[in-house]
Amino acid sequence: MLTKLTTLALAASVLAAPATEVVPRASNAKVCDDASKLCYAEYVASNSVSYRIAIPDTATTAAPYDIALSIVAPKAIGWAGIAWGGAMANNPLTLGWSNAATAVVSSRHSTGHTMPVAYDGASYTVLPSSKTNATHWQLDVICTGCSTWSGKTLDPGAAASLAFASAATAPADPSNNASKFGIHNAKGKWSQDLSAAKLTGFATLVAAAEKGSA
Ligand code: HEM
Ligand SMILES: *[C@@H]1O[C@H](CO)[C@@H](O)[C@H](O)[C@H]1NC(C)=O
Ligand SMILES: *[C@@H]1O[C@H](CO)[C@@H](O)[C@H](O)[C@H]1NC(C)=O
Repeated sequence: MLTKLTTLALAASVLAAPATEVVPRASNAKVCDDASKLCYAEYVASNSVSYRIAIPDTATTAAPYDIALSIVAPKAIGWAGIAWGGAMANNPLTLGWSNAATAVVSSRHSTGHTMPVAYDGASYTVLPSSKTNATHWQLDVICTGCSTWSGKTLDPGAAASLAFASAATAPADPSNNASKFGIHNAKGKWSQDLSAAKLTGFATLVAAAEKGSA
């Protein structure tokens, strides 16, 4: 009886594992993208979605700084996003999804556990290295407004508590960045050492990546 209960409990926890993932590890591995030539610190969730981040090596807490974000997801992922404050509510949310041969960014915000609305406190440049191919979609953006909100700035020299979420189902209208979408079936938090995301020559590299001349 005890054995059976233990087995059931184990089976339940294994089944539940992908839904809530708490992996308190810093990601220091640098990954460089062939097309944009940007190099990022990478966190890979257990459903194989990569969240890649680069910041200027000159960033300080004295002023907002731009963040380069790359989300690389298997095509089976309908949408994936980052919560820059480490939880769903009251911080900038950056979502991406596939659309035709490229990818779409959507700027969102929520005050609770409800469908996030458009957020105009952040603005984005989508890099031409964004794409959808036979197996994956990749969204590469430069975010202005993701490092600061509610008077607080992410410390570029410290570990940031970040969160991700993703869903198997794609948004209702993928060509529209204001599309409705459904709740995540995967989510988690991780500690990202932002000093490991520092990129020397950030502004020059980003300018080249934006022109597609990297
Ligand atoms: C239709 C849209 C969404 C709905 C209805 C929704 C709903 C919820 C609910 C009910 C929870 C509580 C835990 C649970 O029951 O799973 C939750 C947690 C969470 N959500 Fe969402 N969510 C949505 C979109 C998003 C987006 C776009 C993000 C980030 C990009 C996000 C990030 C999180 C995270 C990180 C948690 C766990 C930590 C926390 O509670 O803040 N969610 N969400
Ligand atoms: C959608 O894109 C438009 C044009 O770039 C932008 O003004 C708007 O804020 C975006 N909306 C969302 C939800 O990202
Ligand atoms: C498709 O894109 C992904 C993500 O960028 C990449 O890893 C993969 O090599 C690409 N596949 C092909 C066939 O180019």
